[in-house]
Amino acid sequence: MKILMTPGPVELHPRVRKAISRQVISHRSTEFHKLTESIIENARKIFKTSGDIFILTSSGTLAVEYALANLLDPGDAVFIPVYGVFGKRMAESAEQYGGRVVSINVEWNKTLSIEELEEVFTRDNNVEIVSLVHNETSTGTMIKDLSRISEIVKNHGKLLVVDAVSSLGGVPIPVEKLGIDICLTGAHKCLAGPPGISLISVSDEAWRKILSKSSKTPSYIDLRKYRQFMEKHETPFTPAVNLMYGLDEALKIIIEKGVENWWRNHHECSQFLYEELESSGFTIHAIKDYRSITVAAASPPQGINPKILVEEMEHQGITIAEGMDHISRI
Ligand SMILES: Cc1ncc(COP(=O)(O)O)c(C=O)c1O
Repeated sequence: MKILMTPGPVELHPRVRKAISRQVISHRSTEFHKLTESIIENARKIFKTSGDIFILTSSGTLAVEYALANLLDPGDAVFIPVYGVFGKRMAESAEQYGGRVVSINVEWNKTLSIEELEEVFTRDNNVEIVSLVHNETSTGTMIKDLSRISEIVKNHGKLLVVDAVSSLGGVPIPVEKLGIDICLTGAHKCLAGPPGISLISVSDEAWRKILSKSSKTPSYIDLRKYRQFMEKHETPFTPAVNLMYGLDEALKIIIEKGVENWWRNHHECSQFLYEELESSGFTIHAIKDYRSITVAAASPPQGINPKILVEEMEHQGITIAEGMDHISRI
């Protein structure tokens, strides 16, 4: 027996696998319109928003790029705190799309603090966008006070982009209530859907920025085009239809079980895992207040080589992920 226990992709429910194996349909058909409507309707219940959500044929990385490429004009100041691999990648990507990245390096066993965020606004009044990783998968850290962070960003009248690739669905992120302008996630993590498909929400305020942008967005990832097509429940280009079937089924399962129960399950599993890891002599990487509820990162007891541990577990049928960047050597 094989068990997949990486921070995503995760194992698929038999119903999701069956859904993916359906016959392909045209993405200009009535059946496709219904599929899109069903995904959006259920996604809204998990994102907790009545606003726009788009289905992207992409993994999480490209979903982050959708957000940045559509918002940024050359020279726009964007604050991106870095406390792990995915924040680092986000900052690189923002630079590639012409953003003037204002960044701080936070220790990789924590996330952004309220004080650090406030300090940015006193230092640089031109920051227009705050873009951050909610759950740093590479370090097993999570922002626990996202509501306070969004309150500060909104009080300054700025836009907030949240990479919730490895957290949306696993913990509450009420997008509309928090005023998150762009929130994005991958299907293959807490939503337990197939890899290769993502969801992105866009607020009215984000639209104002996107529509007033003077520079061109690469046409394949232009959300303005997406919006025109999504109004008729279609995508501008050929999407991964079968993965959409899989995501639709995955979301239905969450709704049937209850979103709150899905969150509770993540919480209980993480508590159990942390207790078991600690009692087995592992060191949890994150400082306690910043411990992720969806991904646990830990170092094995002295004398056990993490690389060999991962290989040995794989040998026994359990796949976990190795650490990333310098974390892998701790
Ligand atoms: C927080 C975060 N952002 C972005 C990504 C990139 O997603 P993907 O590997 O699906 O492109 C990941 C992947 O693990 C992630 O955990």
